[in-house]
Amino acid sequence: MPRPNRKDDVMLRRLHPDQPDSFAFTPANQAWAEAQVKKYPEGRQASAIIPLLWRAQEQEGWLTRPAIEHVADMLGMAYIRALEVASFYFMFQLQPVGSVAHIQVCGTTSCMICGAEDLIAVCKRKIASKAHQLSADGKLSWEEVECLGSCANAPMAQIGKDYYEDLTAERFAEILDDLAAGKVPVPGPQNGRFASEPKAGLTSLKEFDSGQTKYNASVQLATDIGDTVRRIDGTEVPLRTPWLGQPANADAKPAAARPAAKKKADAPAQTVAKSEGAVSETKPETLSAPRGGKADDLKLLKGVGPKLEQTLHDLGFFHFDQVAAWTEAEIAWVDTRLKFKGRIQRDGWIEQAKILARGGDTEFSKRAKKDGKEG
Ligand code: FES
Repeated sequence: MPRPNRKDDVMLRRLHPDQPDSFAFTPANQAWAEAQVKKYPEGRQASAIIPLLWRAQEQEGWLTRPAIEHVADMLGMAYIRALEVASFYFMFQLQPVGSVAHIQVCGTTSCMICGAEDLIAVCKRKIASKAHQLSADGKLSWEEVECLGSCANAPMAQIGKDYYEDLTAERFAEILDDLAAGKVPVPGPQNGRFASEPKAGLTSLKEFDSGQTKYNASVQLATDIGDTVRRIDGTEVPLRTPWLGQPANADAKPAAARPAAKKKADAPAQTVAKSEGAVSETKPETLSAPRGGKADDLKLLKGVGPKLEQTLHDLGFFHFDQVAAWTEAEIAWVDTRLKFKGRIQRDGWIEQAKILARGGDTEFSKRAKKDGKEG
């Protein structure tokens, strides 16, 4: 459980003085919450408080007083009992967080030895001088937390739902800049490591083939789901409620087929918002087979693994110049047909494809070719 461990960053666990007037779960989140309550026998509904508070925080970014009271009402609890839970656990944010992301920097032993203080200095410089304060543009906030269990990849930070590991102050600063600019950098080790193997390479179990997936399992899942800093409105995937014999939000369409989410009027732009914008879709020109019978290695595009390459082939894309020529409306068309909305822009496929189509190399393609040769 993340807890602040630095004297000057410790805050009182109190309700924030500025509160919104009301709170409501989105219809899908409300259905999910009601389904959670049904897991517990009559008289034990209060047992659902942590998942419900968590979902409220996932939806809003932080726990407001109206949200805590809404959950208490749902569970038949006195408001003070719900507030006791919300104020006890440090995972609950009782003050507004950045509209794009809340950064949690691990400051415990391994991370501290490996440079956590430099990362905190970056937060102070780029976000706000004190933890739990918003950046000037309201997009980011930060705090120091205790060990997040990724000590072999120290120093690290949790950003939204994912871990960014093997950080340097320089790389961390770039990540914060990217987030503020509406991009979501790929999580995981930031120094080229696949997972937590020795930096100089494997010394044992060398037959392990890390090339089976582009990223390690956690990062692969994070990039596949693509909700690192996204607020959760419950329509992302059908929420399974097997104890009720049906999905809680059975009406929710799969992400790829969902209409664009309504953007909060006051929320600064985010990558996901960009990817869900109301751009009309146009089908790009496709091929039934690669020209000359030989496809380009689309895996040289950062963000494309073997599975995604196959999907692109299935859609009729085999060459860098095809990708390089996609217009915004064509990107929207492809985006809708990939499982990972926003990836094309997030990973900069078009820019990469333009370089590769000219016969050039990107930093990533150089590394991938080198890894391929060594492998
Ligand atoms: S000490 Fe930082 S993750 Fe464990």
